[in-house]
Amino acid sequence: MPSRLAYLDWNATAPLRPEAVAAMTEALKRHGNPSSVHRFGREARRALEAARAQVAALVDAAPAEIVLTSGGTEANHLALRGLGDCRVMVSAIEHDSVRQAVPDAAMIPVTPQGVVDLVALDRMLAAERRPALVSLMLANNETGVIQPVAEAARIAHARGALLHCDAVQAAGKLPLDRARLGCDLMTLSAHKLGGPPGIGALVVAAEVQLTGIQSGGGQERGRRAGTENLPGIIGFGAASVAAAASLGDYAAVEALRDEAAHRLLAIAPDAVVHGASEPRLPNTLCLSMPGVPAATQVMALDLSGVMVSSGAACSSGKVRRSHVLDAMGVAPALAESAIRVSLGWSTSANEIDRLVEAWGTLYRRNRAHAA
Ligand SMILES: Cc1ncc(COP(=O)(O)O)c(C=O)c1O
Repeated sequence: MPSRLAYLDWNATAPLRPEAVAAMTEALKRHGNPSSVHRFGREARRALEAARAQVAALVDAAPAEIVLTSGGTEANHLALRGLGDCRVMVSAIEHDSVRQAVPDAAMIPVTPQGVVDLVALDRMLAAERRPALVSLMLANNETGVIQPVAEAARIAHARGALLHCDAVQAAGKLPLDRARLGCDLMTLSAHKLGGPPGIGALVVAAEVQLTGIQSGGGQERGRRAGTENLPGIIGFGAASVAAAASLGDYAAVEALRDEAAHRLLAIAPDAVVHGASEPRLPNTLCLSMPGVPAATQVMALDLSGVMVSSGAACSSGKVRRSHVLDAMGVAPALAESAIRVSLGWSTSANEIDRLVEAWGTLYRRNRAHAA
């Protein structure tokens, strides 16, 4: 019997891949600190280094370039704060863990389509006298819009700056090659690609001098102190292998996403898909139902068993409009009615049917009331 629930919030977190569950279950049965010199310690070290190599392979990096962290947030902070005195420039659509890592960072504007403005970036870099670090995500977590990271890296390098890329949402959904993209630093997070939450990595090109932002036991070659979360790291490694092997699944995910958008727009011709004209992640749909607050849509869908996110974030009980849609110049009323639907490798046609039915019912009810 088809499930009555539809999980369409994969950009928030993805379910654990069976490969990660199996690897972590084994890892939890063992103990041993990778820094210990005895037998159990050496076994733990071997397991840690094997997992590091698996994560490195996902982005075609060398294992020595991987600094394991407690997740994407920490990796972003390490990238933006670990280079010492420099001018940080971040795109206006970055995740809060980038936007808030350096309070006085300069904001690079984006176009109305949600793509970073490279002309503005070049102008900002030209006017800067200090060494600079540019932070640009590979794909936006709300709209899915893919950013011109390779071009931004070329511009940054021509002006003597470094480039950090938050690839948290792209990893596992798109093929990734850190060096080919020209990124000096790249952030990954396990739980977006089928690994456990609370583990991530900063990929640091061999020639970049990075200083840790926390001190202690000197782990990760002094770049990230703290006893390693070995079960998490092993789960991250296993998920990375599985994600790389199943990138091809995203053609079907994209077809489902596009079918969902087509059916929703057929019901609601005044609905708006944000970033639709740009290359996007194959799984993401950011959609406004004009006049109906995002929170109302999220709650109504949840009552029907359909789980999605609102484009707006909730903090201290207050709904905050999406800074991403604001930066794109989307009218406030339209931005307040935006929800994010995100699919994954196991999303079924039945889940899309449930979404269309529940969202369509809400739309028709709302428009009947308004008439
Ligand atoms: C683009 C982006 N960067 C960073 C993060 C933070 O990653 P983590 O949850 O591993 O701290 C997220 C999580 O939503 C994200 O979407």
